[in-house]
Amino acid sequence: MKTRGAVLRKAPGTFEVMNLDVDDPRQGEIRVKMVASGLCHSDDHLATGDMPVGTYPFAGGHEGGGIVESVGPNTPGFAPGDKVLFSFLPACGRCRWCATGHQNLCDLGATLLMGSRFDDPESFRVHLEDGTPVGQMCGISTFLEHTTVSVASAVKVADDTPLEVACLLGCSVGTGWGSAVNSGEVRPGDTVIIQGVGGIGINAVQGASHAGASNIIAVDPVPFKREMAESLGATHAVDNMADAAEIAKSFTNGQGADVAVVTVGVMKGEIIAEAFSSIRKAGTVVVTGLGDLTEVGIPVPIGELTLFEKKIKGAMFGGSNPTADIPKLLGLYNAGQLKLDELATTTYSLDDIAKGYEDMHAGKNIRGVIHF
Ligand SMILES: NC(=O)c1ccc[n+]([C@@H]2O[C@H](COP(=O)([O-])OP(=O)(O)OC[C@H]3O[C@@H](n4cnc5c(N)ncnc54)[C@H](O)[C@@H]3O)[C@@H](O)[C@H]2O)c1
Ligand SMILES: [Zn+2]
Ligand SMILES: [Zn+2]
Repeated sequence: MKTRGAVLRKAPGTFEVMNLDVDDPRQGEIRVKMVASGLCHSDDHLATGDMPVGTYPFAGGHEGGGIVESVGPNTPGFAPGDKVLFSFLPACGRCRWCATGHQNLCDLGATLLMGSRFDDPESFRVHLEDGTPVGQMCGISTFLEHTTVSVASAVKVADDTPLEVACLLGCSVGTGWGSAVNSGEVRPGDTVIIQGVGGIGINAVQGASHAGASNIIAVDPVPFKREMAESLGATHAVDNMADAAEIAKSFTNGQGADVAVVTVGVMKGEIIAEAFSSIRKAGTVVVTGLGDLTEVGIPVPIGELTLFEKKIKGAMFGGSNPTADIPKLLGLYNAGQLKLDELATTTYSLDDIAKGYEDMHAGKNIRGVIHF
């Protein structure tokens, strides 16, 4: 069928909204009419070229929800009219990682940035009007008015789910909340630093708060971000890591933070090193932010790593299992314990996507959201 969507022709480049063809769903696939999509910083990494992809043109977006419009043959579990949220990481349910409670590391992730189907590098579901294949971000592309996806990327949710905000569960909420709760293993009474308060970092603040941290120190150069952090659970908010480290020491007999979660927009080795110097002996730095994927090296003192048993830990989707954790976090929202409405600070039309990313760079949003 005909659709429209935001596509990168090359990188570096910008998202252009254009007419496209999207295929009917095959076995194991559904076609979804999109309702809303968050504007995650990771799609900006595609545009800058920091995260190169396997196919251009490439349709962006990986944080969304919509309504099932058609279901492939012999594809149980979904029906037209169902509401679904996408997980930016697919889960096959059968690989070693899925079978051991690490769906975020599912083997289907290997071809996530290729743009084709996970199991077939030659097979695409979206095309330009002249037939040229178009890659799909994370196999989903939530910047499309209609998208055909594998059921491995979809989580069915209740009919009364407000997709306009619940779409954030597809990336930023699970990523941030899980970076504190799962990856950082924040404990009651802990002192935690969250470095970078965007869509991801604000959810790390919420996660640290749920886990019972006593001191949650948010760091961001933008005053609006610091205010938002304080309104959603941060006990302190400062504009630099040196001050955050001093505050952490003041609560820990001079030892340092138990956990530092790094969620800045463009990751650099030096930023991880700042977090490393802010934690206590045997503390943990959780690295969630992404940057130039080819960059190598974190300038940390090796002696401190060994002698103080400090840990540096990567986090994909905050160590979440999307099949279980997306419904769990939705339940917390429904119970009033997890804030989502407050995070979607500005809504945009698909045609205004460039403005959405401009506003992200200007620090105006916690999360910009496209409403289709
Ligand atoms: N690991 C994962 O699974 C995963 C998933 C989604 C996004 N990400 C990555 O997480 C990062 C954050 O994404 P986002 O959508 O929240 O971005 P964002 O742009 O909304 O937020 C980033 C925040 O970092 C702040 N910042 C920039 N430099 C800083 C510094 N030196 N110290 C403190 N704060 C600083 C900015 O002011 C901004 O508020 C991105 O790199 C994104 O690609 C990772
Ligand atoms: Zn994301
Ligand atoms: Zn798997």
